Amino acid sequence: MAWGIGVLGAGAIAHVHAKGIADAGGRLAGFCDPDQAKATAAADEWGGTAWTRPDDMFACDDVTAVVVAVPNALHAPLAIAAMDAGRDVLLEKPMALTTHECADIIQARDRTGRTLQVGFVCRFAATVLAAQRHIDAGRLGHVYQARAVMLRRRGIPGLGRWFTDRSQSGGGVLIDLGPHLVDLVLDLCGRPVVERVSASTSSRFGQPPRGYRFTEMWSGPPNLDGCFDVDDGATAMLRCSDGPTITLETAWASHLPDGTIADGVTLFGDTGAMHFDIWGNCVRIGTQMDEEIVDVSHPIADGEGWGTAFKREHEAFHAHCTGGGEGPSGEQGLQVQQILEAMYRSDQTGREVSVSS
Ligand SMILES: NC(=O)c1ccc[n+]([C@@H]2O[C@H](COP(=O)([O-])OP(=O)(O)OC[C@H]3O[C@@H](n4cnc5c(N)ncnc54)[C@H](O)[C@@H]3O)[C@@H](O)[C@H]2O)c1
Repeated sequence: MAWGIGVLGAGAIAHVHAKGIADAGGRLAGFCDPDQAKATAAADEWGGTAWTRPDDMFACDDVTAVVVAVPNALHAPLAIAAMDAGRDVLLEKPMALTTHECADIIQARDRTGRTLQVGFVCRFAATVLAAQRHIDAGRLGHVYQARAVMLRRRGIPGLGRWFTDRSQSGGGVLIDLGPHLVDLVLDLCGRPVVERVSASTSSRFGQPPRGYRFTEMWSGPPNLDGCFDVDDGATAMLRCSDGPTITLETAWASHLPDGTIADGVTLFGDTGAMHFDIWGNCVRIGTQMDEEIVDVSHPIADGEGWGTAFKREHEAFHAHCTGGGEGPSGEQGLQVQQILEAMYRSDQTGREVSVSS
């Protein structure tokens, strides 16, 4: 059977995947979305068939692998259905709504022998690959503290639709951007065991009465009469048994003056400290050389950004499916989900909590 990818969901991120598949030299078999107009528009733009029912897409011999790019509540059922139908799966983040669902997905992978890769695309950013090379070369020494930040000013996605309805999304910014931040910082730190978590969330911008002003909206348009029962800001501290102390800050919306707090990842090591904006144009490392404090800026090649990360994600997925490599695993997705769940528990109880409880 020839390699062909079907994309489940023809929404905002499906188009980014379609470009990533094309850039990686993959073959797009088509799109499935219950919204026929969206499926057809995506197939017209990128090629392939438009389906409205997942089972019809799974029944097509052209589809050997599936990208699951649907609302979060459908991740587990559709990823499991795809693997049961004999298809490999690239599953968008968050892996699922709960750790139980993540475990069910891993079980389905093991039962069917299919490939499962979780969509932690930030790992494939050029900045992150460069950062990893500097870490591996020992430029930071022992990393004792890490910080990851994604703070938006007007970035609530799909306000009033599934993104902001807890029953469909599992939460707000913490479950939306949190998986990227948690996975990335853990990966750069060698995947330490996170034992305890303290977190606090806020919900200040999306709740009615809405004075929230925006100029554009991911996955828009908004439904101003729709549901908003999720967090739009979060801060957390993670204690590891065998790694750095990690702090995370994220917001879909804020009144932060532009550029006042650096977005991205900061790692503090005993011989060097590093900062980079995930989609930025350099990785900076500060260190001490003889008696001098020195900052070195390592530029990222022009043209790198979100698009090339999705291209690399699809190259890795292809290699993963054909036995030539590994991508972000179900177990890593489960670990991230356990930490996110612990963060929400900590927020609810107002206490530091154990990740394993
Ligand atoms: N990797 C990233 O950086 C990134 C960025 C954005 C979104 N995402 C993730 O991708 C997923 C989709 O997000 P989006 O922004 O594209 O949302 P979206 O709302 O724009 O698109 C979701 C699409 O899924 C369709 N859908 C609903 N039920 C379906 C079903 N049963 N079968 C097939 N399609 C169905 C909807 O009609 C919609 O077109 C989410 O899980 C989100 O967290 C990841």
